[in-house]
Amino acid sequence: MSSRSRPVLTAATADRRRLYEEAVQCPEAELDFVARWFRRLRGRPCRRIREDFCGAGLTASEWVKRHPENVSVGLDIDAAALAWGARTHLAPLSPEQRRRVKLLKRNVLKPPASTPPPDAVLAMNFSWSVFKTRDLLKAYFAAAHRTLARDGILFMDIHGGYESMKELTERRRCKGFTYVWEQAAYDPISSDMLCYIHFDFKKGPMMKRAFTYRWRLWSIPEVRELLAEAGFKSTTVYWEGENKHGNGTGEYHPRKKGVADASFVCMISAHK
Ligand SMILES: C[S@@+](CC[C@H](N)C(=O)[O-])C[C@H]1O[C@@H](n2cnc3c(N)ncnc32)[C@H](O)[C@@H]1O
Repeated sequence: MSSRSRPVLTAATADRRRLYEEAVQCPEAELDFVARWFRRLRGRPCRRIREDFCGAGLTASEWVKRHPENVSVGLDIDAAALAWGARTHLAPLSPEQRRRVKLLKRNVLKPPASTPPPDAVLAMNFSWSVFKTRDLLKAYFAAAHRTLARDGILFMDIHGGYESMKELTERRRCKGFTYVWEQAAYDPISSDMLCYIHFDFKKGPMMKRAFTYRWRLWSIPEVRELLAEAGFKSTTVYWEGENKHGNGTGEYHPRKKGVADASFVCMISAHK
């Protein structure tokens, strides 16, 4: 559809999942990162992935388009998100591609034991922060460790910086709508945070609280310690590169020391 004939988005006409994917997800960059670092670390291509917390399985369905031997499994507990993903992302695949991807309604704490096991497990967009105690987060990491291939790798992202503890609202323009991220509450005693995604439009009311997240704000050392306790032999932190204007490049590089940024997103790989 040309941009001229594209209907004007409003809270009544827009699909919140579609807006989420457009505003938040970038499966190409995520999968480039996973494929590049898996090959560098293991000296062989990554072929089998599991997308934990897959929602509508956008990343899992992208994976099978990249190579005829790629296989993916997506896990989520939200049946409606999985059904929407099956209609939106799996249906347009070729029958051959569709045979190589599965979206399953499963708790990531109890992942299926696939044969052969995944080379990489992906836990992206901070979804793992839903586990608010050391016991639960460690149980999740142990489940990933147990079900990965012998030389498997867990890839995850993490956010932080002093602004992540602030109660604030940020707006970002996207095509035809505005993405609104609200950190509604942060409790320094529990480290619990309550966040919302809203969507705003040129015409009409906002789509309020399209998504709600109740997370714990974990620190990088806490997460690395739990990954080690769950059995991972080593972990690497990848910090985002900066251009000469001080803006993030979207490229992540292994680093031993970070920078006291107001707000950062970085990647972690955990090696079995
Ligand atoms: C932030 S969304 C992630 C969507 C998408 N994968 C992405 O990267 O943007 C978090 C997802 O985690 C799912 N989720 C939360 N707890 C879960 C659990 N214990 N097991 C499986 N999925 C879970 C939710 O249903 C939701 O779809």
